[in-house]
Amino acid sequence: MDFTDKVVIVTGASRGIGLATANYFWENGATVIFAVRKPHDFKLSPETKSSKRAFVIKLDVTQVKNIEEAVRKIAKKFGKIDILINNAGVDEPCSVVDITEKHLDYVMNTNFKGLVFCSKFVAREMVKKRYGKIINLSSIAGKEGTLYHLAYVSSKHAVIGATKCMARELIKYNINVNAVSPGLIDTDMLRGYFKAYSKLEKSNAEDEIDKLVHQTPRGKMGSPEDVAVLIGFLVSDEASNIVGHTFNTDGGILQH
Ligand code: NAI
Repeated sequence: MDFTDKVVIVTGASRGIGLATANYFWENGATVIFAVRKPHDFKLSPETKSSKRAFVIKLDVTQVKNIEEAVRKIAKKFGKIDILINNAGVDEPCSVVDITEKHLDYVMNTNFKGLVFCSKFVAREMVKKRYGKIINLSSIAGKEGTLYHLAYVSSKHAVIGATKCMARELIKYNINVNAVSPGLIDTDMLRGYFKAYSKLEKSNAEDEIDKLVHQTPRGKMGSPEDVAVLIGFLVSDEASNIVGHTFNTDGGILQH
């Protein structure tokens, strides 16, 4: 893959899948904007920084004004935005009978509303150039219900719905919108989720993870880099005929 001359924004790029994806684009020649919630806590590697093709910007996806401003600054500096990866997300377990308004708002505002508004402002720039690629991070939880996961599962189902709508509307401007749906990917989010989940279940987090790994035909967790390469393919010009679909990278745990 060669992304030389492409301008790419990755939200939630400070760690996990977002960081691996931002690094993937950088390694393949792109100019990459690492959009992070807390820029003071994040440092580019010296190699990435010295390339002059990597930039850090503050972008909290729950703050619509911040999104609008950040996108305006990026478009002004680079003259265009070719690729947007809507990666930022949060996950916390919560039982149906204990769910609070605060929890639901937190998860939906980050995973769904944030993605909608990042897409809105970036798509406006892409429409001007009649070119763009948007990838939304859903999840296998966007395709099935799981225990203590009402808000997250709903938000990831909503991401698939949003992907279908955005794709239908934007393809006439040569903007491809698709989603990816990772399974068990070894990140801080996954480990944090199972730590909290095991408290609700009065079990052990490592045992819960092992149980799911054993249900995965591949028999192991995926890595953030496994997700990055799928994203890389989907935003390549070779994949331009793919419009509004969601692709799993899940070691075979789902077949739909
Ligand atoms: P992570 O917790 O390691 O990283 C999430 C990133 O999003 C962090 O950089 C965090 O700072 C950022 N973020 C959170 N709230 C934000 C906000 N308001 N504004 C801007 N950034 C914010 O999680 P991970 O595992 O890398 O997940 C990335 C995406 O992949 C998420 O959308 C997640 O739902 C999805 N996913 C992850 C899976 C996994 O097994 N790890 C499985 C399926 C989907």
